[in-house]
Amino acid sequence: MTDSISIPPEQRIEVLPDLETLSQRALEITVEQMEVAIAARGRFNLVLAGGNTPKSLYEKLAQVSLPWEQFEIFWGDERYVPPDHPESNEGMARQAWLNQVKIPPGQIHPMPTQFPEPAQAAASYEHTLQDYFQTIGLAHPQFDLVLLGMGPDGHTASLFPKTAALSVKDRLVTVGQKDDQPRLTLTAKAINQARCVLFLVAGSNKQQALTQVLTGAGEPQIYPARLIHPQETLIWLLDHEAGLGWSEDEAAEN
Ligand code: 6PG
Repeated sequence: MTDSISIPPEQRIEVLPDLETLSQRALEITVEQMEVAIAARGRFNLVLAGGNTPKSLYEKLAQVSLPWEQFEIFWGDERYVPPDHPESNEGMARQAWLNQVKIPPGQIHPMPTQFPEPAQAAASYEHTLQDYFQTIGLAHPQFDLVLLGMGPDGHTASLFPKTAALSVKDRLVTVGQKDDQPRLTLTAKAINQARCVLFLVAGSNKQQALTQVLTGAGEPQIYPARLIHPQETLIWLLDHEAGLGWSEDEAAEN
């Protein structure tokens, strides 16, 4: 069954020569979105991606001077491991960036992984998000920018193909499943309430899934990145290997 998916007002693809230039462009876009958010609402609600691709962007963010006191940091997904585990998305972001800058600790909101059951952790993070957004006067939680990666199978965050997480429409956070490993993940609903989503996709092993997602040919249950349609802007940053054959105007037509 194809979910009724609305197409965002603006969707664009940028193909960069390599991960370095992709990360530099991602930095530019992140700062642009930050400036818009802070000018409008006095804060920047940013969701971090996990995996390897965004690490280079995080390392660049550690090198620039930004109004860190106006940043609120969240995660799009998390492996169900402690923050000091080598697989931890929180641990990677803290080591690459957050430990180097002065974002107030209370404004960094990692996904909790200490609960006995992942479902308890998902419920806890749901409350964290609801409480935070109510505190800032938003009836519906809305992130300013969500950073996402995409796996070779078309998954994004921890929304993996043919898993129950893809069908959760009444919550912001749920339990994802990668093979037999539980994950915590924002739902497509939570991501799609965001103003802007920025995908960072590098590597030739992403080409097949990208084609399925960007042409719209792939079923969302099989290629979950197809579920992602934010309120205002959807930007794909691809390196040359992942984006082989794609150009900006071509994608805009699809
Ligand atoms: C994770 C990520 C996941 C990631 C993709 C791409 O926790 O692994 O959230 O969705 O973005 O698997 O990973 P790479 O960037 O390492 O290719």
